[in-house]
Amino acid sequence: MVAEELNVIILAAGKGTRMHSSQPKVLHQIAGKPMLQYVLETAIDLNADPITVVYGHGGEHVLHAFADWDVRWVEQAEQLGTGHAALQALPHVGTEGVTLVLYGDVPLLQTETLRKLVHLAGKDKLAILTVVMDEPSGYGRIVRSDNGNIACIVEEKDATDQQRRIREINTGVMAFPSADLHRWLPELANDNQQGEYYLTDVVRMAAEEGMGIVSLQPDEDTEVLGVNDKRQLAQLERALQRRHAARLMQDGVTLMDPARIDVRGLLLCGRDVTIDVGCVFIGQVELGDNVRIGPHCVLKDVVIRDGVVVSAFSHLDGAEIGENAHIGPFARIRPDTRLAAHVHIGNFVEVKNSQVEYGSKINHLSYVGDATVGHGVNIGAGTITVNYDGVNKYRTTIGNGAFIGSGSELIAPVVIGDDATIAAGSTINKDAPAGKLSIARARQLTHPTWVRPTKKGK
Ligand code: UD1
Ligand code: MG
Repeated sequence: MVAEELNVIILAAGKGTRMHSSQPKVLHQIAGKPMLQYVLETAIDLNADPITVVYGHGGEHVLHAFADWDVRWVEQAEQLGTGHAALQALPHVGTEGVTLVLYGDVPLLQTETLRKLVHLAGKDKLAILTVVMDEPSGYGRIVRSDNGNIACIVEEKDATDQQRRIREINTGVMAFPSADLHRWLPELANDNQQGEYYLTDVVRMAAEEGMGIVSLQPDEDTEVLGVNDKRQLAQLERALQRRHAARLMQDGVTLMDPARIDVRGLLLCGRDVTIDVGCVFIGQVELGDNVRIGPHCVLKDVVIRDGVVVSAFSHLDGAEIGENAHIGPFARIRPDTRLAAHVHIGNFVEVKNSQVEYGSKINHLSYVGDATVGHGVNIGAGTITVNYDGVNKYRTTIGNGAFIGSGSELIAPVVIGDDATIAAGSTINKDAPAGKLSIARARQLTHPTWVRPTKKGK
């Protein structure tokens, strides 16, 4: 039976010396989110209340980063051990139900695993998340008595040679009856090799009182990996990206190489989506059915409708792309852009804060910013909407069926009428009427008597 009341204490006061960073360890990111956020989200998923975070080093940055979260913060000014850290949180922890201790630098624990652990603890048992390791050095070892019951946890530095051979280790994640934790924590001593107050010593207290002590192993060992240095940070990043890739493939997405995709947020895919190598998805990205994303694209907060093809090296941010549109290669689509169905955006084209209607084409080397472009428009190579006078920005409006000749500059604010044609190389600074040819360039001259100069003799 699951306890009605779940308290969570997150230990996050460690210095993180080995990160060699001025940023507190728990603010370092995995898949675009600070480590601590994963732990908080898991605690929230478990309906924990209250959630108490014990912070130390760089605390003001941590508080600032999570200012909007419904969390209680407790400072541990001096890092005197995990038991001491938990003791600081105790005034916020209720005496009912179960208290679960998590670490701020162990971000990949799955809610389901913790739910099972809390369930195992029930009302009157101590539950420990353990794993069996080939290389257990550095971890606290799970010491069991002859009958197999857990007797205590011994830290590596305090262990006998025989105890060091034990391969079952303490992940640090434990669930306790809250009332007992209130009794035990103030009793902890620091008479050990490290002179620290060990949270793990409560296990011995529980065993001595004859309390049931149970253990659970996570489904995946990567869940319990912690971060102490940049190498481990990168390992966890990969572990999480493998999880993302596995989920996408399970849902039917074709990944050209599941080891070469980065999802830093939420990626939602329709049916028959193909994603080539080296793509990065940031924020919330939605891909419709039959979408193909070419290699090395960056997509941030975009909605991409059915049948769209995004070719290699394109960068899309804050945009909506209509059905069967073609983007790239080498295209840049910037925020507040909405492209309707069948629009074509080609290489070295930048589109910003613009709406482009059905079937219009901007295929080569152009800048279209702050523009409203109708349907069936053709914008020739090297067209520039001149939207900025150095102080203010202005809009360019291009009517349906207009044809903008290559190498034109449209100086905003300006309106190009429906079916207007702009001659190539024009600098347009007055509205161009519908259905007419507007030409705004110097007339070509050919000099009839001109001869090429010859090299002068010495
Ligand atoms: C701890 C466990 C060990 C376990 C290992 C798993 C104890 C005594 N030992 O060892 O059995 O195998 O984790 O990784 O609990 N922290 C504080 N304040 C402190 C000390 C630590 O907030 O004063 C936080 C750290 O930020 C970290 C967590 O507690 O998130 C664990 O601290 P760490 O120093 O890594 O503990 P270990 O010695 O590795
Ligand atoms: Mg550690």
